[in-house]
Amino acid sequence: MSLPSINPVTTKAWKKLQAHFELTKNVKMQDQFAKDAERANQMKIEWNDFYLDYSKNRVSEETIGLLLDLTEEVQLKAAIQKQFSGEHINETENRAVLHTSLRDFGNMKSEVKHSLQQMKLFSEKIISGNWKGYTGKPITSIVNIGIGGSDLGPDMVTEALTFYKNHLNTYYISNVDGDHVQETLKSLNPETTLFIIVSKTFTTQETITNANTIRDWFLTNASAGDIAKHFVAVSTNLDAVENFGIASNNVFPMWEWVGGRFSLWSAVGLSTCCAIGYSHFETLLKGANEMDKHFVESEFKENIPVIMALLSIWYTNFYSSETEAVIPYSQYMAKLVPYLQQAVMESNGKSVDRNGDGIAYQTGTIVWGNTGTNSQHAFFQLLHQGTKLIPTDFIAFSESLYGEEDHQNKLLANFFAQTEGLLLGTEGVSVENNFRKFEGNRPSNSILIQKLTPKNLGSLIALYEHKLFVQGIIWNIFSYDQWGVELGKKIAENTLDAIERQQYNGIVNPSTLNLLKRSCNR
Ligand code: F6P
Repeated sequence: MSLPSINPVTTKAWKKLQAHFELTKNVKMQDQFAKDAERANQMKIEWNDFYLDYSKNRVSEETIGLLLDLTEEVQLKAAIQKQFSGEHINETENRAVLHTSLRDFGNMKSEVKHSLQQMKLFSEKIISGNWKGYTGKPITSIVNIGIGGSDLGPDMVTEALTFYKNHLNTYYISNVDGDHVQETLKSLNPETTLFIIVSKTFTTQETITNANTIRDWFLTNASAGDIAKHFVAVSTNLDAVENFGIASNNVFPMWEWVGGRFSLWSAVGLSTCCAIGYSHFETLLKGANEMDKHFVESEFKENIPVIMALLSIWYTNFYSSETEAVIPYSQYMAKLVPYLQQAVMESNGKSVDRNGDGIAYQTGTIVWGNTGTNSQHAFFQLLHQGTKLIPTDFIAFSESLYGEEDHQNKLLANFFAQTEGLLLGTEGVSVENNFRKFEGNRPSNSILIQKLTPKNLGSLIALYEHKLFVQGIIWNIFSYDQWGVELGKKIAENTLDAIERQQYNGIVNPSTLNLLKRSCNR
């Protein structure tokens, strides 16, 4: 059975939400706090090491109640069950969506167990130095060659867990920009470097181009027989991997029921597994699995991903907010936003509903942001005094990893102060002129997590995976395909052909033609 296909706008709850919005849109959160001393205690969810405070949002208990009614009408509960039971909810590609089963140790498919075992043995050999390069030296550097989901997740997680890393240096090459490839190769020694080519399809232009260039570089020093000691692959396309010259026992699996942007939990995370060791990698998976259970089992009003998704729907579809900011107060988390941009925007950037009809309401939030406190000194001006309403997720860890108390106090003080400033503004405070005035009433979620550990990071990533799923269900779209990336790829093929042959008769657009001619002056 496929997912229900219900136009959210036609539901009773949506109509009630619309009427409720008209009545309450000018209510200020400052007044809600003043009237209700219990607000902060009521609008919070405590779960494991997580504390979500959503009281600084333009909602009342009634708003939340109506949003929860909406989940009933769009049959969210049934949709979650369909996802977790492996129904082909990715209908346009006729695939199941089972990244959650990659971390379900209590009920794990044998092929997943086998792959984890393969990752464990491989990473142990690399870390211990038992795996030798072609001149007999141990591996000291790992290079992940992949793009999109085959890059962003592992890169983000490896950087986020730097504290837990071993001696191995890690590099991520994704862009087809040859200058970046050359800059990276400059610091690498072919004798001690392992390249992991990650591509579900093994046809992605950027990845294959980079892999070929790097193999050529490797072969200027080593011979073809040495490739087996320095190149491994993660892919579903075994023939293409073999044609590249990679030995079959150096191939790690991917499955069609795991989407690229949800694949960091699989062998796509091999670079992470090598960098932090298998035990930490498994803990990351277990943390994600705990969030999966929370998502599946908790009542929706106590359910962190559901509540965050509903708040986002409220701002997107009723307040007409176009974007959401995510601000982690941890430099380790610098790559969280680019990772989320793919997860959220590739999933929910859709304008056709599950019936195949065009959509007349907003979908797909634009996610942006950067680490706090850096972004306070960059774009926070716009959050505080700009004309746009930008709901913002603040994320921080109560404990620092090195115990730098003075720094940690300041980091947290800034987080809390910013959410308070956005809420309160300068109301009740006399200011010299309008330029110094802050209206406040600007919404934020505060996600306070005890400590940056592999387990908590796994839970945090899974939280956002489930949030985007809930939004896709409510918006009546298919979140797990990505047809929107195909057109550009196809046009690029023709354009590349024109550039290579310097023959432009197939290029019809005059603007593109001018650009092509101009770029030939090199
Ligand atoms: O950009 C589109 C996309 O298909 C992503 O969804 C995917 O993560 C990325 O390309 C890389 O694909 P592959 O792993 O097949 O190289």
